[in-house]
Amino acid sequence: MTRTVYVNGDYLPEDQAKVSIFDRGFLFADGVYEVTSVLDGKLIDFAGHAKRLQRSLDELQMANPVTEEELLAIHRELVRLNDIDEGLIYLQITRGAADRDFVFPKDPVPTIVLFTQSKPGLAENPTAKTGLKVISIEDLRWGRRDIKTVQLLYPSMGKMMAKAAGADDAWMVEDGHVTEGTSNNAYIVKGNTIVTRNLGTEILHGITRAAVLRFAREAQMVVEERPFSLDEVQAADEAFITSASAFVMPVVEMDGAPIGSGAPGKVTARLREIYLDEMRKAAV
Ligand code: PDD
Repeated sequence: MTRTVYVNGDYLPEDQAKVSIFDRGFLFADGVYEVTSVLDGKLIDFAGHAKRLQRSLDELQMANPVTEEELLAIHRELVRLNDIDEGLIYLQITRGAADRDFVFPKDPVPTIVLFTQSKPGLAENPTAKTGLKVISIEDLRWGRRDIKTVQLLYPSMGKMMAKAAGADDAWMVEDGHVTEGTSNNAYIVKGNTIVTRNLGTEILHGITRAAVLRFAREAQMVVEERPFSLDEVQAADEAFITSASAFVMPVVEMDGAPIGSGAPGKVTARLREIYLDEMRKAAV
């Protein structure tokens, strides 16, 4: 089956979808994106992603070409047309095409594209039973990581550094403290306490993070939102990441040394279960 994608109002076979070479997303990474997961053919936390999208656009004074209702309808139509049971929907909005100039164009027409990625087994990912190995790398990204822009070269390089070191991913470190993973938020667990970086411009405000912290507090776990060091990672009982594509995923090794017992922990497993149960119930 040929994938059907969405470009500026049209549903097209993927090989017929085109964007201008003058698009500022292409020339300046002047664009923002969202990734929303699909389970049982339904969207997980669509409202959260739509809200963050609007915030990213507002921070960059970029126009939103669609209303939230239209965006939901497009997501659902792509799920239907591509028969997605489990997978991801990628959405990108850029400032649009204009002659190359660092100054923002006047009255630009934004570009909007969406496509699906079918991922059977997304929820039953076997890695949840074995855990991820991460390395630590310096965080060399720009200073507005709270805006979900398409400037993903350094995270992509980080992932390659991890692969070269025989690991799965990298946690980025700034001033001795972990900011986040290359494409996920980072957490450690000590006893009944979950520690994760506080919100600010240093990290992306994860939609999965917000839900997981809410569920953790409801389950009487203690949540500390503050920077944590690599020493604290080495001394932790458990570690994990969250993202729209990984949900809650254990991390069992950092820089070649086991974290806790070196196996996925109980708190992580419980949070993953609660998250998947609750979000499936609330999916739209
Ligand atoms: N990445 N931090 C960074 C740097 C991210 O790129 C992401 C998401 C997250 C987690 O955010 P959320 O829970 O809203 O997915 C944190 C997406 C999944 C991606 O780039 O594919």
